[in-house]
Formats: sequence, C-alpha cells, structure tokens
Amino acid sequence: MRVGGKHFRTIWLKPEEQRVVQLIDQRFLPHRFVIEEVRSVEQMAAAIRDMHVRGAGLIGASAGYGMYLAANEAASRNSFDDHMARAAAQLKATRPTAVNLSWAVERQLRHIAAGKTTDEKMALALRNAELIADEDAEHCRMIGQHGLRVIRQIAEQRPGRTVNVLTHCNAGWLAFVDYGSATAPIYAAHDKGLPLHVWVTETRPRNQGSKLTAWELGQHGVAHTVIADSAAGHLMQRGEVDLAIVGSDRTTYTGDVANKIGTYLEAVAAKANDIPFYVALPSSSLDWQMRDGLKEIPIEKRGVDEIKFADGWFDGQQIAVRIAPDESPAANYGFDVTPRHLVTGLITERGVCEANENSICALFPEHAP
Ligand code: MRU
Repeated sequence: MRVGGKHFRTIWLKPEEQRVVQLIDQRFLPHRFVIEEVRSVEQMAAAIRDMHVRGAGLIGASAGYGMYLAANEAASRNSFDDHMARAAAQLKATRPTAVNLSWAVERQLRHIAAGKTTDEKMALALRNAELIADEDAEHCRMIGQHGLRVIRQIAEQRPGRTVNVLTHCNAGWLAFVDYGSATAPIYAAHDKGLPLHVWVTETRPRNQGSKLTAWELGQHGVAHTVIADSAAGHLMQRGEVDLAIVGSDRTTYTGDVANKIGTYLEAVAAKANDIPFYVALPSSSLDWQMRDGLKEIPIEKRGVDEIKFADGWFDGQQIAVRIAPDESPAANYGFDVTPRHLVTGLITERGVCEANENSICALFPEHAP
C-alpha cells in the first residue's frame, strides 16, 4: 500500500541483512512513520504483545518471521528443537484472540520438522515465513475482488449515489501484510471509480479507527469521516449507511465472528435497520476446532489504563491524559463475538459465503470437520 506515494508492506526482511526483520511500528501512527528492526524472537514477541504490530493477519505474519528468527538462534544452541518449542510457546502467549497467531506458529513447526539438517531447517523457516506473508497479501487482494462485487451490486441499486460503507477498528492493510481485509473491497471499488465514502468508527480505547484506518484511507485518497463509536446506530437509522464491512480476528467454522470490541453492537444495529453486515477475512482467521464462538473464543482483557487514559499527540510528543477518576475501577475487553445470525456474509479469498457451517465448509472442503 501507499505511504506518501511509495509502496510499503507492513513487514519484510531487511534487503541487505536477511537475518533482520523490518516492520512499521504502528504505535506512532498517524503522527510519525517509524520502521523498527527486529533481530530476535524475544523482540518479535514483545512487538506483538505491545502492539507495535497488530491485526490478525499481521500478527500471523509476524509470528511466522519470529519463528524464522528463532530458527537462526536455535542453530547455535544445544538443542534446536527445544529452542523452537520455547519460541513457539513464547509467541503463542503474546495475544489470545487472533487465531492467525497459533496458525502461523504451528505451520512453521510443521514445515521446519521436514528439514534433516540445521541448515535445511533454517532455509525452510525462511521460505515458509515469506510464504505466509505473500499468501496473506494475495488472499487480501482476492478478498478485494470478491468484495468489490458486493459493493458494485449495492451501487447499482442506487445509481448516481455515493455508497456509504461503515467499518470498525482497523482491518486495513496495517492489520495484514498488504491490502487489508475489510478495506480491500473499499480500495478495489475506489480504484474502479465507484463513488464511495467510509464511516470510520474511532474504536475506543486504542482508537485503531481514528488513528490507523483514517490514515490509511487518506493515504489512498478514499473519502472518509471519523465518528464516535456510539454514532454508528444513529447513522444507520437515518439511512446514511448502505453496508458495513468489518474484519475478524477469529471466526468459527460455524460462522461466529470475534472482532474488535463494539462490533457486536454495530451488527445488532445493522440488523435492526436492515443493513447488510459483511465480515471480510482470509481463511487463516477461520478456526476449524471451535463450534460455539460465544462460549469458546478467548477474549483478550487488556490493562485498564487504556480505558482510564486517552493518548494523543501534543507539541511533537505522544502524551496520555487521564479521563476517568483515578479511584474508579475499569475493565478493558478487547474483542466481542457477533453471532452468525447477525452476519449477512463472509468475504473470503475464495468468494463470499453465508456465515454457517455448510456454506463455509463448501468453500473450504479440505478443512471440513
Ligand atoms: O487489537 P488489534 O488492533 O490487534 O485488533 C485487531 C483489529 O484491528 C480488529 O479486530 C480487526 O477488525 C480485525 S484484524 C484484521
């Protein structure tokens, strides 16, 4: 995707030093564009945990590169396999909700196990890390093409009118390696010249919407407006939202969708107002073990300071200001689960399907339980 007119991915190997991973440190966006160099699995685990990188697809790709860094370290340890097992556990423990994390770590362990020598294992780890990243980008590009048809259909029902899309949090290219999931159809429609406007919910408490999605859309020249999370229902009631497209951190094979906190309320409001509510996700975010999203998906709880303070940019510096009374208890739930009956459709790299077991398994028969 474009930053100041130049193409960037969110993560890549340093061209002149292949044992170093470079990534966009998202903590400073949209105010500063910072590239971080990561040299160890320990550092990669911290980058995921402390959200220098975030978003389901990018968490998966970062874990893939983290396992590659671990393989480089393991080569000089007594036991290669022990070091890799420790690295896998360390990476998996960083964040609980996005299933892409364990998916990427397990995939690396399987591939690396096929190597007979240490050199072979290191080469396999590198190849597979690059493959995970390339696949993520390609799957998101395909999501864009399938989602474009959804937006086009809606545009054709309202000739000459701008299509208003609502999105939540950041399921944009910053949440993946490139393109994004929820934003890929938006970029594809914009590039085809469809008249489009995006409502961007700010997404308290970390404001991935107002900080990241708004910045991304602006870099690509897409018309957008940032709104408070609580304004979504109001706009839907007034006919100012034609469809919602959100991302997902984990979707069960039965169609229940875990996504950033607040998604469920938007889906309820969309249902009440007869507005199509789509979820865009690559298959790496599908969980083939979990049947009941409400009961089974682990929901991340984060530190309460994210609720009690707001952070922003002042005088060239990032500062935090207190909002809630110091003595008030707070709770910070990172994600919620939208039950399948509130979802109009899932936009995947293989096409659009309904949010139910039959439809999902028909698209991905090789995973059907
Ligand atoms: O906590 P984050 O920023 O890692 O959360 C992920 C998200 O941005 C959203 O939930 C997103 O809609 C799905 S990730 C593609």
